[in-house]
Formats: sequence, C-alpha cells, structure tokens
Amino acid sequence: MLLSLFATACFAQKAEKFVNELLSKMTLDEKIGQLNQYNGDWGATGKITPDGDKETQIKNGMVGSMLNVMGVDKTRKLQELALQSRLHIPLIFGQDVIHGFRTTFPIPLAETASWDLGLMEKSARIAATEAAAYGIHWTFAPMIDISRDPRWGRVMEGAGEDTYLGSEVAVARVKGFQGNGLGNIDAVMACGKHFAAYGAAVGGRDYNSVDMSYRQLNETYLPPFKAAVDAGLATMMNSFNDINGVPATGNSYILRDKLKGEWNFKGFVVSDWGSIGEMVPHGFAQDRKDAALKAMIAGSDMDMESRCYRDYLKQLVNEGKVPMALIDDAVKRILMTKYELGLFDDPFRFCNEAREKAQENNLGHRKFAREIGAKSIVLLKNNAVNGQNLLPLSSQHKSIALIGPFMKATVANHGFWSIAFPDDSARIVSQYDGIKHCTKNHSTILYAKGCNINDNDRSGFAEALETAKKADVVVVSLGEAHDMSGEAKSRSNIHLPGVQEELLKEICASGKPVVLLINAGRPLVFDWAADNVPAILYTWWLGTEAGNSIADVLFGDYNPSGKLPMSFPRTEGQIPIYYNHYNTGRPAKDDEDKNYVSAYIDLSNSPKYPFGYGLSYTSFDIANLRLSSSKMALNGGKIEASVEVKNSGNYDGEEVVQLYIRDLVGSVVRPVKELKGFKKIFLKKGETTTITFSLTSDDLKFYNNDVQFVNEAGEYDLFVGNSSNATLKGHFSLE
Ligand code: BGC
Repeated sequence: MLLSLFATACFAQKAEKFVNELLSKMTLDEKIGQLNQYNGDWGATGKITPDGDKETQIKNGMVGSMLNVMGVDKTRKLQELALQSRLHIPLIFGQDVIHGFRTTFPIPLAETASWDLGLMEKSARIAATEAAAYGIHWTFAPMIDISRDPRWGRVMEGAGEDTYLGSEVAVARVKGFQGNGLGNIDAVMACGKHFAAYGAAVGGRDYNSVDMSYRQLNETYLPPFKAAVDAGLATMMNSFNDINGVPATGNSYILRDKLKGEWNFKGFVVSDWGSIGEMVPHGFAQDRKDAALKAMIAGSDMDMESRCYRDYLKQLVNEGKVPMALIDDAVKRILMTKYELGLFDDPFRFCNEAREKAQENNLGHRKFAREIGAKSIVLLKNNAVNGQNLLPLSSQHKSIALIGPFMKATVANHGFWSIAFPDDSARIVSQYDGIKHCTKNHSTILYAKGCNINDNDRSGFAEALETAKKADVVVVSLGEAHDMSGEAKSRSNIHLPGVQEELLKEICASGKPVVLLINAGRPLVFDWAADNVPAILYTWWLGTEAGNSIADVLFGDYNPSGKLPMSFPRTEGQIPIYYNHYNTGRPAKDDEDKNYVSAYIDLSNSPKYPFGYGLSYTSFDIANLRLSSSKMALNGGKIEASVEVKNSGNYDGEEVVQLYIRDLVGSVVRPVKELKGFKKIFLKKGETTTITFSLTSDDLKFYNNDVQFVNEAGEYDLFVGNSSNATLKGHFSLE
C-alpha cells in the first residue's frame, strides 16, 4: 500500500515536471490549440463548423483532441499529422461509448435495472477494452444526469430518478471505464456528463432550461458527479441547459466553486457539442467572442466544435480580458491527461491492428452481454392462467406464436447510442432467433409481424390474429424504435407508438394467453396492457445479445431480478413523477382521496409501477426488521438494521433488498422516502438469510436552506422491502 502510494506520488511529480517544461515552451497559439476539439468523419449530433483544411490545422498544433474518429487506421493517420507539429504533442481521441462498443450492452437505464454494480462495472470495463483496441482514449460517459421525466429522451442514457442509486452506478461505471488506471492499455478516460442538472429540463424537452433552488441542485442533481470525481473521474462535460438563467458552460458556480473548488477536481472540462457558441442564442453572451470569454472565465477547458476558443482566445488574452494563468491551467489539465494516458511515451500505443481485430466478435464479451441483458429485464406482471403463473414458458407450451414488429428486428435492439457500428444487424440476435433457439425444438414456433412500430398500417392484423389462434401461448413484442429515445428525442406522448396497442387488444381478444415484451429507452405508458395482459416483461433495448437474453428469461433459464430505476407513470399528466417527493400540507390518504388534498380529480397519485419494483418467478418474504439501537449519535453515529429474507417460492432467484428512510421533521421538509442502501442477494428456494445494512449519521445529512450540508437531530422512520413501496418499518432518533 505504502509502496503504491509512493509510486503514485513519484509518477505525479514526474508528470508535473514534464508538463510544466512543455508548457514553458509553448506559444499562446499552441496553448490555444490544445483547447480545441474537432469532429472526425461521423455524422454529428449538432451543427458541423466548416473548417477549411483540418489536416493543416492538426499539423500546425491547432487541435488538441478529435472526436468521432474510429479505428486504428484512421487514428494513426491523424496522430502522425499531430506529431508533425512543432512540439509533437499527440491528440486524444474521444468517442461516445455509452452502452458497449463493438459488443453493445443494454442501454444504461436498463443496466441500472439490474441494481448489480459489479455487472455495470464489468460492462464498462469491456466497453473500454473494446474501444481502446480501436484507438480510442476517452469515452463521453458515464451520463449521470438524474431525471424524473420520462418525456426526456435521454433518460435512456442515465441511471434514472434516484440520487443514491445514481451515485453508486456513476462510481461503478467510472471504475469500469478507467480500470486499473489511465496508462493501462485497456483503460479509457471517463467523462461525467452533463454537468449539470440537464435531466431537469423544463417539460422534459431536450436542451431546455432548468430552474431550481440551489438546495435542490446540491441535494438531488450534483451528488452523482461528486461521487464520480471522488472515484477518480478524469474529465467532465458541460450540459447544454442554463441553470437558473446561467448556461452550465459559463456557470462559474458549478465549475469553479463546486467542481474545481470544493471538490478539488484535477481533470479537465470539455464543452458539449458547440455549447460555448450556444451561449449566444441563449442570450447570455453577446457574440462568439463574449462566449469564449465567459466559458473560459467560468472554467470550461476544451471547446468541442464551436471554434470560439480557436477564433477569440488569443485576442482576449492580448486585450487582458482572459488572464494567461487561466489558459495555462486549462492547457495543463489537458496535457496531464495525455501524460497519464502514456501518449507522450508512445502516441501510437492504442493503435494496434491485432488488438483491434481480436475485438471484432469477442465471444466472451457476447456471453457477458447475454448475461447482463437477462439481468436488466424487469418482470412487471405474471398472473396465473389456468391455475399457474404464465411465466416461465416451458415445454408444455407446444406451440408459441411470436408476434410484433420487434420479433425479427435487429437494429431495434441496439439502442440510440450504438453509433459506432450502426448497421450491425448480422451480429444482433433477434428475439425470434433467440426464442427459437431456446425452445430446442420442444415447441413449434409461429410468427407474424402484425404491424410496424410507428404507422397506421393495420393490414397485418388478420394474419397475426390467425397465427395467435393456432398457438398455446402468444408472445407479443412491442415498443419504441431505437431512435425514439435518446438525444433530441423528447416525446410529449409516451404511449406505445402507431397501432401497436390496437394489435395487442385484438390478440388478447382471441382469448389466448399473452406475454408482452416492451422494448423501450424510457418508461412508456401502457395502462391498458398493464391491466389486461397476464404477463409483462420490460425488455428495454438490450443490445447485441437481446434475443438470447430475452429467451433466457422467458424460459426460466434466468429468473428475472430487475427492479425499475424510474417510476412508471399511469399517463403523461403525472409527470414529473418520483418516489421521493415531499408530503405537502395536504397529503392524500390514498389514491381514492380527493377531498381538498394534493391529488388529481381524474387520476391517482401513485405511479403504475413504483421505483424499485420488479417481480421474480419465485417469491421473497422480508421480515423481522431489527435495529441495533433506537438512537444514533448526531456526530459520527451508526446503527445497523437487519432483516430476514426467505425465498418462499419454487425457484432459486435473486432479490434486491432496499433500505429507505424518512426524516420526519426538518428545518426544510424532507422526502417521504429516501433510498439509503440496497443489497442484491441470491437465495435457493426455501433458503433464508439475514442481511444487515449500516447507516451512519453522514448518510442522514441534507442541504438546509442556506445550502449547508448538515445533520439535524430528530426522529426517523426506516423501511426495508423490495420496492419503494416498502412497508416493513422501524424507528430511531438522531440525537
Ligand atoms: C451530446 C453529448 C455527446 C456529444 C458528442 C452531444 O450532442 O449531448 O452527450 O457526448 O454530442 O457526440
């Protein structure tokens, strides 16, 4: 331990010396060059700035980093150009590696539903290994924006609505991407994004404004970023939104005061695509020069694609408006990461054809994709049909009809950010293929598409109905197309698109038992299905191995254990909806209570499915809650809460046991429940175990009205269960 601390300190000293010497040789133009990031050849998520001759600019040391350049061949060519610059400073190549790379994994929201931090770390680890083999040094992930609004298409990229869960997932992903540390050949720099509060866009409309108290910002939206920084996060990305009127890119409160000040973040901040220039249309900067000034003063270090730094920073320094010390600080942060990545020793160390080739179809990685796919699925409903739960399917089901536009689809399983290899259809396992393979010929498989994802064509209904009638059981696969959730994919209507629900109603009317698979990047609204279909699996977008993962769950080769990372609304009118809301002065007693209480007269308050919810093929009893003490000391106190968990059903399985608290009275009102811990455990059928959570006084701190992070003495309820509806209750006081 001491030895490794010593080695780290020596490395840091050497890096510092090297970078300081390099910096002292650099002209102002060369310094500004390091702050520019240019797009490569891939279609972009924003306006591309015409550049004239990019190659000459790279040769002249005017570019510090590129994004969207992929493959050993292309990165090597550009790196060779960069090394022709006067000081031979290598480029960093960045890419959106969001849910896998050559092998795609479930979208991050789906992976979060596994509540399995080890698996999420491994998923990021594999993605990093694959990306690094393709010449990439830096992923623009993890996306750790908390969001309570499923209309916002980017919920697919994050960890859902909860700050505690979101923070744990952020740490797992940073560890996964950065592996044993930058400098290792399979580690890429992680980038926390989007800093900050991007997920709270008004109305769920992407890029929209955010207006909230600083208390709320600090308590709900910033902690995952802080957790990521504490875990060694190398870089951070600005968000597009303004926060209380100040665009995040020019926001010195979050960048200088919090991130680089209070949190002591040593890495660098990259703007989002064009977000420096966008401060002009925001109405925060007069022109692009003013935008460059405001971004640099606030603490944004690298300019992705707006060219404001390239065009104006020199002038701003010469006019004395931007101190040279700020430029030096930004450049130094970037050069330090290049040093840590080992690029000054060997700029081509990530350019190795053999490594790249080995990742083309890595079977170990595919096997893992299948596993994490199955663990991301959430069983929402499993009613009995003819006296027996409909799922899992078995060899008793002699004929199975597979119906719906997702059954034979391939790319639809991929998810929005699978941009590196968009047309990878030959490698993606369709649901049809996965299910057919899993039946091992014990059942006849029938198929009809029925309808498309998003149009009004009903011409396939008759065939689908006929097919359903011939089967013992019907599996219907519906949802959103892979580009209906993601960046700039906000939707005001999050029902099943097109005529899919109509198709489902007709199939159900045939009287055949129906299992519904829902493929989506967000919580959808499917109230009719939830009330009328006996079995529902939420299958998200699961990536390359989607069909196999789904088949494993359908046939019980894997007993589902996923839990929802967001509350599922009954209809759009309930949004934003989240479990950790305040009580209000007029709380409704229950969903029926409408008597001058905080409720809708035409709708329940409760979600269709709550945060943390998900079923299993077995059942778990959670009982005998015991607290080690009924009192916790205000400063540095700790108590333990233990429960007995019994697998009381007929299958072995995993359960996510969740711990929530409620602070009953505070100087500011506190949520009705707050997640403070969870454990995912495996129990054989009939097995019982005791699990113990520890809770410390630090875990009970919150932001008071002066935005100070404090403990306040008082009474607390504590709940343990398997969803945010947990009712098993204890009580303690903090004193
Ligand atoms: C997105 C970022 C992404 C960047 C580069 C932007 O439009 O908001 O999340 O990393 O593009 O592709």
